[in-house]
Amino acid sequence: MTKLTVLGTGYLGATHAACMAELGHEVLGVDIDEGKIAKLQEGQVPFFEPELEEVLQRNIKAGRLRFSTSYREAAEWGTAHFLCVGTPQKRGEYAADLRYVESVIDELAPHITEPAVIYGKSTVPVGTAARLGARARALSPAGAQLEVAWNPEFLREGFAVGDTLHPDRLVVGIDPQRPGRAEELSREIYATAIAAQTPFLVTDLATAELVKVAANAFLATKISFINAMAELCEAADADVTVLADAIGHDARIGRRFLNAGLGFGGGCLPKDIRAFMARAGELQAHQALTFLREVDNVNMRRRTRMVELTRETFDGSLIGTRLAVLGAAFKPDSDDVRDSPALNVAGQLQLQGANVTVYDPQAMDNARVLFPTLEYATSLTEACEGADAVLVLTEWQQFRDLDPADLAELVRGTRVLDGRNCLDAQRWTAAGWTYRGLGRY
Ligand code: UDX
Repeated sequence: MTKLTVLGTGYLGATHAACMAELGHEVLGVDIDEGKIAKLQEGQVPFFEPELEEVLQRNIKAGRLRFSTSYREAAEWGTAHFLCVGTPQKRGEYAADLRYVESVIDELAPHITEPAVIYGKSTVPVGTAARLGARARALSPAGAQLEVAWNPEFLREGFAVGDTLHPDRLVVGIDPQRPGRAEELSREIYATAIAAQTPFLVTDLATAELVKVAANAFLATKISFINAMAELCEAADADVTVLADAIGHDARIGRRFLNAGLGFGGGCLPKDIRAFMARAGELQAHQALTFLREVDNVNMRRRTRMVELTRETFDGSLIGTRLAVLGAAFKPDSDDVRDSPALNVAGQLQLQGANVTVYDPQAMDNARVLFPTLEYATSLTEACEGADAVLVLTEWQQFRDLDPADLAELVRGTRVLDGRNCLDAQRWTAAGWTYRGLGRY
């Protein structure tokens, strides 16, 4: 088993640290945020992610996982270091902000005196790994014995533990000019997944970096494609949900990620496609990705359309209406509200004069911080009581399971707006509700 460190214990890092320990490795998680480290060391996960807390606690107890704020300790502990810090969008620009990634290299490399490998997992602009490699070698007493490889992460929030323990593929980019121990060591670390026949692809650094952004760009494009079809369905009185089912039966297309609705948000897809466009521009290849600008535009238009649809339901004015917004997280099984379409729509509705009350099973605290001016209910019932319309903007199972007859008792107006096409339209209509969905008549 390998002694390894995980640098940065946010969403990605905390999950990676806990899951690597679960595989039997001896793991040290490192972060500069003392509060976060103290929490994790006590077995508490600072965000909502199914299964993660159990895995964390089990491995701390077993003595395979601990946390620290010291980079010196990290350098002394591990022969493999996983770089998991964030690469947010720069303020006022499309490009990614690499300051955290660079600072980890600057803090760690000077303490590394023995041969070691740093595996980058963060999503970075292509070319970053090669640059960081040169920087690390220059700063470290180990010099050329310190390798930088790239091992992109594909985990989805809400399924982070499963995606890390049972990935659908593993990609490791190594510097072809400097073949060292990076491939061999990664095969040892991921031996369990490799034994389970997980595809293991070894590439050069640039390809590994591009794999990640290309995958996210494809997923974003798939969602915006079906949302563009939703716009057409609205114009032609057709039904996008049936259209998605029908084209999805073609194995070349596939039904997954063809759910039309409010579109994508979260901490990854929006910023990643923008950083990808920015990087393509720097490489004089901007034409290759101009379509992503349209992908972004289609995505943002859905939010506006949702507001319009709500206004249409009230004959053109939202002033004085009481609206229950169900969902604040950018997707179900998450408490993440970064670039959340649900909250964005709730905010716009309020600006147009509606009284908006929001309820979400997990994301209330984060939502309050981001949108303090919205009203928040402590339960679904409280949010819907006396409402003139109910808007389902994140498809939590609890909302999918709602009984329209029961809910009709609570509200003032039986209007339901389905921003995620996750409700059974016929059932709601049969129970006396006026049902409206995106991309449906
Ligand atoms: C994504 C990628 O899936 C993951 O591989 C990558 O590592 C990080 O970014 P995540 O942000 O957790 O993961 O969310 P994902 O499940 O991909 O959903 C992204 C957004 O797309 C959500 O807002 C979701 O509601 C939306 N979506 C997804 C749709 O609107 N329609 C769909 O059919 C699928």
